[in-house]
Amino acid sequence: MKRITVSAPGKLMLLGDHAVVYQRPCLVTAVDQRMFVTVELINKPEFQLHAPDLLPDDYKKPLTQIGSGTIPKGVAYCEVAVSLFIQKFGLPSGIRVSSQANFSSLLGLGSSSAITVCILKALCSIFGIKITNKELFILCYQTVLAVAGVGSGFDVAAGIYGGVIFFVGGGKEITPLSVVSLPLLVGYTGIKADTPTIVRSVSEKMKQFPKLINGLFTVSDLVVTRGQNALIEHDLQTFGEMMNINEGLLASLGVESEQLSILIQAARMAGAYGAKLSGAGMGDCMITIAPPDRVRQVKQSIALHGRLITVSCNAEGVKLEAQ
Ligand code: PMV
Repeated sequence: MKRITVSAPGKLMLLGDHAVVYQRPCLVTAVDQRMFVTVELINKPEFQLHAPDLLPDDYKKPLTQIGSGTIPKGVAYCEVAVSLFIQKFGLPSGIRVSSQANFSSLLGLGSSSAITVCILKALCSIFGIKITNKELFILCYQTVLAVAGVGSGFDVAAGIYGGVIFFVGGGKEITPLSVVSLPLLVGYTGIKADTPTIVRSVSEKMKQFPKLINGLFTVSDLVVTRGQNALIEHDLQTFGEMMNINEGLLASLGVESEQLSILIQAARMAGAYGAKLSGAGMGDCMITIAPPDRVRQVKQSIALHGRLITVSCNAEGVKLEAQ
């Protein structure tokens, strides 16, 4: 039977976290931690899912029931993506979807967005449907909103476009940036963050103090613009300073947990240009950038206080691996 394999990268938010949910800009990089998804056509009119990283890891449903009834949380992105595909294009055959990531879904590097991107891209490819990156983004973003209820879509943009992107909330603008190199160091707190809950906590703050929070986000816009120029000019020192200012804003929003703060301070004390949380906060990863002669000390310091994760930024976007 016909089959196709597609891969998509994970992501890290560089600057503009949370503000981007309010239609403001952020910078995001795709990372070389990739999700691989194989879609094959089968004779049974079923959606079958085999995904060792998800719960349940083996799942099936008749095509006629896709998107309805109980959808286990662990497979929601996959089933909703298929359901939206069916609504838009129909599905002439049963499918079996298998996924495999070369990174843990616990790290917060965007496994849900990457699997969504892969499934929709693979379905389009296997049925010969021509789709632009922007159209694919819209379908993936609909999936994210249907499952999580909130989100800017920055993660699916990273999965589709790859590289380093200037992204405005909801995909109003998606501009790939020309960045020579981005030697980011990453520390994992060991704590899984619940992004929708944290995003809602910020929205409570927004309701309570709209002028103040919008003021913080206006500074965030300036930080993103300055950081973008610094990245393009390969001025990593200025970029590090933007990371530090952004962290101050995020701490004001109440999303800097103790473990994040420990790792961020540790990186700065070891000589980093700057450090900040990446994403929703309260757990997951922090990112930092250091002068070449301090990289070893910063790595050691992260490893001492948490877990050092090795990533390469500017990774390639969604691509066909085999057919
Ligand atoms: O926690 P993550 O890595 O999924 O990132 C969330 C980033 C937010 O700006 C807080 C939300 C969003 O969708 O942009």
